[in-house]
Amino acid sequence: MTLVISIGGSVLVGDLDHERVLAYAKVIKKLASQEKVFIVTGGGKVARKYINVARRFGASEVACDFIGIEVTRLNASLLVAAIGSLALPVYPEVPTNYREAENAASSSRVVVMGGVAPGQTTDAVSAILAEYVRAEKLLIATSVDGVYTADPRTNPNARKLSRLTPEELVEIVMKISMGAGTNSPVDPLAAKIIERCRIHTLVFDGTHPENILSAIKGEHIGTEIIP
Ligand code: UTP
Repeated sequence: MTLVISIGGSVLVGDLDHERVLAYAKVIKKLASQEKVFIVTGGGKVARKYINVARRFGASEVACDFIGIEVTRLNASLLVAAIGSLALPVYPEVPTNYREAENAASSSRVVVMGGVAPGQTTDAVSAILAEYVRAEKLLIATSVDGVYTADPRTNPNARKLSRLTPEELVEIVMKISMGAGTNSPVDPLAAKIIERCRIHTLVFDGTHPENILSAIKGEHIGTEIIP
């Protein structure tokens, strides 16, 4: 089976904690004994801090995105180092595009990459990569525990959904992302790609690395998107 796993920067790195990154590497090692694994790492708090400072200098949003991409790749490099420390063969470079990632997978069971292009987040990268490599499952390990009917941070009536179709995901994400300052659990481009390629997707709380294993085992811990 081929898996693509998006790991949010804040859940992977936290406050740049060695044990935390190692714990994710150990989970990936377990998975790699049976599956081909592509990991896409996010930028987290550090990316947001850099972007905020760059904005104060008047940098364009695209320039800010490029800075964010650098941080996602930095996190990818850190995870590569952690995986390497467990003596698990991992592709040593961080691919900068989908073709490179696919080529890398012909020589390694584990490939780790970050962002690709401005105007999106690593959620979209993971969905596009999953479509490209024909992954069986897309896992989005993030800082929220699933997809809600509205933004739970601003709407007390928001309800967590355990199952939904890709069409319902698109509808919810579009509604949430239209509100200024709101935070969507999956970015709109990712939702559209999931709708297009109809991949089985799981969105769950990735704060605990073992949740990745639970999600793969089918233990219902977040939101399942089933076509
Ligand atoms: P993230 O994917 O971490 O974005 O990329 P995020 O929304 O902050 O993710 P969460 O909160 O961890 O889920 C960090 C930033 O890098 C840029 C964007 O500016 C994004 O906000 N980026 C990332 C891109 O421009 N393109 C990419 O392909 C990836």
